[in-house]
Amino acid sequence: MSVEDAPYLDVMAGPGLCKLKETGEEFPGSPFVALAHEFHEFILIEDDPQLADVLKQRVAKHPKGSLVKIIPENWVEVAEQGCLRFRDDTLVVAFIDPTGISQVPMKAILQLTKTRRIDLLVTIQHSLGITLNVPQYIKSESEQTALEAFLDSGDWRKWKWREASEFARKAIDAFSERIQKEGFIGTRHISVPPDQPLYRFTLFSRHSLAEKFWNEILRIDETGQRELHF
Ligand SMILES: C[S@@+](CC[C@H](N)C(=O)[O-])C[C@H]1O[C@@H](n2cnc3c(N)ncnc32)[C@H](O)[C@@H]1O
Repeated sequence: MSVEDAPYLDVMAGPGLCKLKETGEEFPGSPFVALAHEFHEFILIEDDPQLADVLKQRVAKHPKGSLVKIIPENWVEVAEQGCLRFRDDTLVVAFIDPTGISQVPMKAILQLTKTRRIDLLVTIQHSLGITLNVPQYIKSESEQTALEAFLDSGDWRKWKWREASEFARKAIDAFSERIQKEGFIGTRHISVPPDQPLYRFTLFSRHSLAEKFWNEILRIDETGQRELHF
């Protein structure tokens, strides 16, 4: 199989450029990190019209701009329409980078898992997305909370837990296990930032080589520091 069969899919792409509030330092967003690699096509979804426009303008100036398709829509709807389903001989890398768990309903993730050779690179926003909201979830009698949608299940109501952070860990495990049920290998989770974690970063793949590469990327150096080698 050639690299011609390898699209990059960014379902919540952002504007293409990130800025650190504290220092004003700018660095490339995920679409531009991906553009530095040998994918044959880049499918970028961003549902905020202004951000999608800015992204379009930035991408247009990139030498690989002609390989990029920007979809200014809600990725959950695009997935439900079956538009994110790829042929079985296509190797897809999908990046799923939400700002909260409401943007990642399991039903949309399951649409992605219908593609046989897809790797899912996922950030799980547990601190603001789950830990802080536990009291609201517990109070809610509706079975349509963001957490139900995130896990595709209301079983969390039966969980035994003492602290909100323990509840969040159980939610992350339940989310990962649901994806693993579709035949994916769950790899090591990375907590970001390491001292006061806000989110987890992980890779799901059906191929064992992906786990090998993931572990190499996350190699721990001799001082015990975790290094990211992209
Ligand atoms: C955390 S940011 C992505 C950052 C990006 N990965 C980067 O490295 O710059 C999440 C983005 O997803 C967009 N978004 C949120 N919900 C979405 C949805 N349902 N469909 C598409 N885009 C969405 C937001 O407007 C925001 O720009």
